[in-house]
Amino acid sequence: MKFNLRQYKQIAQAAISRNVPVYAHFGVTHRCNLTCKMCGIWRYGNAKEELSIPETRKVAEQMKRMGVAQVSLGGGEPFARDDLEEIVEGFLDLDLNVRVLTNGIGVPIQRIDRMIDFGLRNFSISLDSLYPSRFDYICEKEGSWDEAVNTMTHISQRLKGKKALPNINCVVSNLNLEELPDMVRFAKAIGFTISFLPIELLNDPNEGVQNWEARFIRYRPEMGLHSDMNTQNLQNVEQRVDYAYKELIAMKADGWPILNSTPYLQASWQYLKTGRFPLEGCDAGSLYFSVAPNGQFTICHRTQHQHIHFLDPNFEEYYHSQLYEKRRIQEAGGCEGCMRACWIDTSSMFRTVRGFFETVKLSQQHVTSYPASFIQAQQWAKHENKTYAS
Ligand SMILES: C[S@@+](CC[C@H](N)C(=O)[O-])C[C@H]1O[C@@H](n2cnc3c(N)ncnc32)[C@H](O)[C@@H]1O
Ligand code: SF4
Ligand code: SF4
Repeated sequence: MKFNLRQYKQIAQAAISRNVPVYAHFGVTHRCNLTCKMCGIWRYGNAKEELSIPETRKVAEQMKRMGVAQVSLGGGEPFARDDLEEIVEGFLDLDLNVRVLTNGIGVPIQRIDRMIDFGLRNFSISLDSLYPSRFDYICEKEGSWDEAVNTMTHISQRLKGKKALPNINCVVSNLNLEELPDMVRFAKAIGFTISFLPIELLNDPNEGVQNWEARFIRYRPEMGLHSDMNTQNLQNVEQRVDYAYKELIAMKADGWPILNSTPYLQASWQYLKTGRFPLEGCDAGSLYFSVAPNGQFTICHRTQHQHIHFLDPNFEEYYHSQLYEKRRIQEAGGCEGCMRACWIDTSSMFRTVRGFFETVKLSQQHVTSYPASFIQAQQWAKHENKTYAS
């Protein structure tokens, strides 16, 4: 995040009215080069349905008109599109604050360099473990840890000393709960921030087929914290979660580079212990929204707002209509909840003074002048006497 004066004005306006969509997610493709254990998005990859470059430029123009300050370009794996650089350039040309969400695996370094040369400063790269064997198991591809870390260290070497926010996205699961504080230390050493997202899984192997909302996640009981709910295990889960999140919240207060707001970490702590989502209303469709690879508009990437295409000539009129507001409230209100940082962190920024000031502080962040090199980062890798069967 690197907000300019116009963007701060939009954010202030959103704080007062709560109806300016300051954050938007644009999934540029559902295709992916990996088949991560917990993710099902790659099954929906279809190059034919994706928007063309002129269309992605129209998406950027419309987002800008609507008051969006921060856009995440994700997927699927956005680098699966050969023209991702052009998409990024189109958003940057309009002075939108852009973040690219990538697995960083199999990405030619020249493609990253080109984007940095255009002015891209915000990357989020996934890394779920300091054990290469565990991470490769999760990604279902050998060598994933080395490739992701190589991309990360290349980015921090390029951005060192600059105002920028390269970030690690870490999915919290049964496989890595004990590693979280060390992941924060690792992120700091390589000049990154880190954000934690509790894993979402299906309870039933067939659920993803039957339930539209569950299409993008998978049934992986070995990664879930609550798959075995006998009392002893439950107690054990509570202790493990308490231990991890107490330390994360203390580290955040001590200035360690954790991107999540404190209210989000507190909500994740409760969710991981109890399986219950936060009670506050969700701001999907008002403070933020999502656009699918084919340009379909949804209030968030999990809900099904099948009413309008983002590039429909009447879209903006519809977005400001009472009909839209009615549908938005029905959709967000009728949802059982989720732990998506996009809504909880965006909401916390507007609903809590603490969340707001934490975000402003992070937006001023500079990458350290001495980030670890790839060789130094490799020394953080842990090894265990355990093999993971796929
Ligand atoms: C869907 S990916 C898209 C961007 C890119 N392909 C990547 O992996 O970073 C965005 C984030 O969602 C996370 N994710 C995938 N499946 C998840 C699940 N079941 N629960 C929570 N997060 C998940 C990924 O680990 C990643 O950090
Ligand atoms: S989490 Fe990202 S990298 Fe992994 S399968 Fe899903 S979209 Fe691909
Ligand atoms: S709570 Fe529901 S509507 Fe809100 S962001 Fe999560 S899935 Fe979407």
